[in-house]
Amino acid sequence: MEARKIKDKIYWMGFIDWDARLFDSLIPLPDGTSYNAFLIEGSEKTVLIDTVDAHLKDELLAQMDHIPKLDYVVSLHAEQDHSGSIPYILKRFPEAKLITNPKAKRILMDLLFIPEESFITVTDRETLSLGDKTLEFIYTPWVHWPETMVAYLREDKILFTCDFFGSHLATTDLYVTDEARVYEAAKRYYAEIMMPFNKIIRKNIDKIASYDISIIAPSHGPMYPRPSFIIDAYKDWVEGPAKNIVVLPYISMHGSTRKMVDFFVSSLVKKGVAVEEFNLVITDIGKLAIALVDAGTIVIGTPTVLGGPHPYVVSATYLTNALRPKAKFLSIIGSYEWGGKSVETLTGMIPNLNVEIIEPVIAKGSPSEADFEALEHLAENIANKHKEQGFK
Ligand code: FEO
Repeated sequence: MEARKIKDKIYWMGFIDWDARLFDSLIPLPDGTSYNAFLIEGSEKTVLIDTVDAHLKDELLAQMDHIPKLDYVVSLHAEQDHSGSIPYILKRFPEAKLITNPKAKRILMDLLFIPEESFITVTDRETLSLGDKTLEFIYTPWVHWPETMVAYLREDKILFTCDFFGSHLATTDLYVTDEARVYEAAKRYYAEIMMPFNKIIRKNIDKIASYDISIIAPSHGPMYPRPSFIIDAYKDWVEGPAKNIVVLPYISMHGSTRKMVDFFVSSLVKKGVAVEEFNLVITDIGKLAIALVDAGTIVIGTPTVLGGPHPYVVSATYLTNALRPKAKFLSIIGSYEWGGKSVETLTGMIPNLNVEIIEPVIAKGSPSEADFEALEHLAENIANKHKEQGFK
């Protein structure tokens, strides 16, 4: 696709990847993604903000074919999906300097072997004059790497945020047109990438609050012409209260855990608690991550295999611990026949979660009447705790 004009002298560049289905060899991309770069032609200096993954370099170079000169490349984030083509841009425009912060400089030198003499480093809130336009660099660390920053184009009130506020969404819309659709994609993005850093993200949101922003331009997904839409959504995800929801990732091998899950879900629903159930054989882990943003309680369902929890359950529990959701309670349900350490293994895997463990229910063989009574009691207990916490 050719470069697209955003405003006078400001252009979208990059690549819309409709076919991408997996990011970082981990994250499902049901809606593809985009890699956005931005070209700003000031009256004196021309700057490119971020690039694209190295395998897409030819697309970006073709878009820049008619650009007579480039003075600066800005790297807001050193991860390769945005930095990978920097060496090729610097080769095409040997006079250009690479602007970033000292932390990103070290990472870019390690990852891409960019020579030290190519860099100009900027301090927090330092400005760069392009003649009739001014860029201000604002450090916003840990969204989601330590070196991340954003850039504010003062005269046009555009905040370039790279991953911050991004969404994995392939679309020809330059701007958000369907907020509900982008809300889901942006929440998925937040859940998978940003949630572990929610405290520092809150500080970064406060830091940018004093800027008069007309457009937020992330490096994945469409731009936001109504910045409050995504800023308010982030505030809710970061610090809004947990909700009256149980998230239930589970595996069943021969049906015992499945029977327990079915009974337990019905029991919770009768008591007014919403449930998001994820059979880990088929689930999209992005959907699980989204559900974890709001869950008041997590209940893990597992059979016993090879003396412990099912490996898919181990993987989901590891991911949940790494994502650090705001849930307040956690329990385990499942089955065994001749022993095993599922409960000990799983409860030992969640040091990052600030949760109260509620007594697990583990059936020997197929669940008995006593096991169903215990599940009923667990559901009652969770419903009461949610009421006490005021979860809605
Ligand atoms: Fe889109 Fe952290 O890279």
